[in-house]
Amino acid sequence: MTRKIVIAIDGPSASGKSTVGRRLAKRLGYRYLDTGAMYRVAALKAKELSIDSDDEDKLARVCAGMEIVFVHDGNEIKTFCNGKDVSEAIRKPEISALASEISSKKAVRDILVEMQRRMGAGGGVVAEGRDIGTVVFTEAELKFFLDSKPEERGKRRFEELMEKGIRVSLEETVAEMKGRDQRDRRRKLSPLHKAEDALVIDSTHMTIDGVVEKMLEEARRRISQGGNCQK
Ligand code: DC
Repeated sequence: MTRKIVIAIDGPSASGKSTVGRRLAKRLGYRYLDTGAMYRVAALKAKELSIDSDDEDKLARVCAGMEIVFVHDGNEIKTFCNGKDVSEAIRKPEISALASEISSKKAVRDILVEMQRRMGAGGGVVAEGRDIGTVVFTEAELKFFLDSKPEERGKRRFEELMEKGIRVSLEETVAEMKGRDQRDRRRKLSPLHKAEDALVIDSTHMTIDGVVEKMLEEARRRISQGGNCQK
């Protein structure tokens, strides 16, 4: 039987983690764990219930009651929370901002990290986020840190939002991206940084297919060798 490993993909917003992560999971027949979507669902719930983003007790209760499921739908992955499809609602800019804010709360992280570990138990999973290789799955057999220039990432996010009919300006999107990067990198809890044993991929001048192929090649090597990450 083929060994099923855990593949961690970390990196800043819109570095392409979700797109390549989904494709990589599909090619390997692995489950896909979008941890950013989980923080987004928590933000959506907090907003729906008008919970103050500083009220950690209430936020924790909401998080503990969330049952999140990711479902493959063609090339897409749908996010369900307690049976409801929230895939679109969690991508709205106001939810992005709130997700960034509440993801810095310890009570929220403690619950979601635990949930992520349960969802990844047994391997055969591609998990993406900010702290996957550094906190959630420190023993992951393969770790990537996917990065690219903020202007390029802002442009990609802008095009993604336009496609979904969400009207924003490019300048606004790039500025929002830089702000979120700073918050994610400077926060006290689980700041975004590269795990020592992660392989860095800079996707600024790479196509999505190029990134996926590179990751796939590395994944197959690790699966067959059973070795640890090398820098
Ligand atoms: O990857 P994303 O843009 O969907 O993530 C939404 C927010 O959640 C982002 O501001 C950072 C935060 N996040 C986090 O703190 N830890 C993770 N593992 C994933 C996302």
